[in-house]
Amino acid sequence: MTDHSAKPSEEAGPSCRPQPVTRPPRSDRVERAYAILEGVRAEVVGRDREVREILAAMLAHRHVLLEGPPGTSKSTIVRAVARSMEMPFHFVEGSIELSPAKLLGHFNPAKVLQDNYRQDYFEMGPLTLAMQEGGVLYLEEFNRMSSEAANLLITPMEEGLINIPRYGLVTAAADFTIICSQNPYDDVGTLQVSRAFLDRVVRIRMNYQSEDEEAEIVRLRTCSEDESLIRTAVRITRLTREAEEIKIGASVRAAIDIVTVLENLMLLSDGNVGEEDLADACKMALTSKIWPAETLNATPEEIVERMIDRARSQLAGDFYLGAESKKKVTS
Ligand SMILES: Nc1ncnc2c1ncn2[C@@H]1O[C@H](COP(=O)(O)OP(=O)(O)O)[C@@H](O)[C@H]1O
Ligand SMILES: [Mg+2]
Repeated sequence: MTDHSAKPSEEAGPSCRPQPVTRPPRSDRVERAYAILEGVRAEVVGRDREVREILAAMLAHRHVLLEGPPGTSKSTIVRAVARSMEMPFHFVEGSIELSPAKLLGHFNPAKVLQDNYRQDYFEMGPLTLAMQEGGVLYLEEFNRMSSEAANLLITPMEEGLINIPRYGLVTAAADFTIICSQNPYDDVGTLQVSRAFLDRVVRIRMNYQSEDEEAEIVRLRTCSEDESLIRTAVRITRLTREAEEIKIGASVRAAIDIVTVLENLMLLSDGNVGEEDLADACKMALTSKIWPAETLNATPEEIVERMIDRARSQLAGDFYLGAESKKKVTS
């Protein structure tokens, strides 16, 4: 990663000088790039291209902005990359209440009152900890932060330094990386991400995964072995993304919820679940996640019923009919 301990003036060489020459030698971690990739693959379904892009950006000493709808594996990948690279990981949920002090840290007020402002009374926040440890600071829903908190990141990103009044200078260790994520649909309570920030990151787009990969994610997360239920839940969820009745559809989280809720309904009803229970599970999983089109005169429940009908006609014999009817067929 960037040698942030270098003073800015030392970095400014002749402009034609090839970049790699000005970089510090690769750390052992970087040499293990392929092992890292394998480590991430063990935790993440698919996403080969995106994982390579994130690793490539990190190996090139860049900070990263991941842009994609909710549920498109942004957090999962970042955690897996940090774990696989054996980097300390600090997670921060972006919100308007996230003050610069929460990111930076603060002096322990009791100790300061008793004594004085001493460096060892300073309790580091996620930003300063990640800088000191050379870790990953992951800022989810970055664009929900106040511009005051967002602007605080610019100097650590650019110079690897931050000056804290009464504490002094915090210098970033070599591998310090900021990864931010944002949801492109988010327009309520978000800030227009500043040019200064965008200029200092590389941006990676995350779209929804293929139907087969989504089925694999549901298998992994629910441990269900009911293929027909998994396929049906995934198809119904995917249909919400293309339906004209829906402005913003649901992510694979909804399919995971449908399968989990239905399997637990099954547990509570001696294994007897039918199509009605599937409809209930779908409504529980989907009505909170979809964003119906404004002009439509239908309730979220009615829209979900339409999605179920569409999936039934598309999947035909593969559509989930419930455990009860399966028993009838096999007996
Ligand atoms: N490619 C994937 N591999 C494994 N799990 C995934 C994948 N995509 C999504 N998931 C699962 O779906 C859910 C949502 O993923 P998450 O990473 O939290 O999405 P995001 O951070 O983009 O909102 C989590 O339960 C996660 O484990
Ligand atoms: Mg997330």
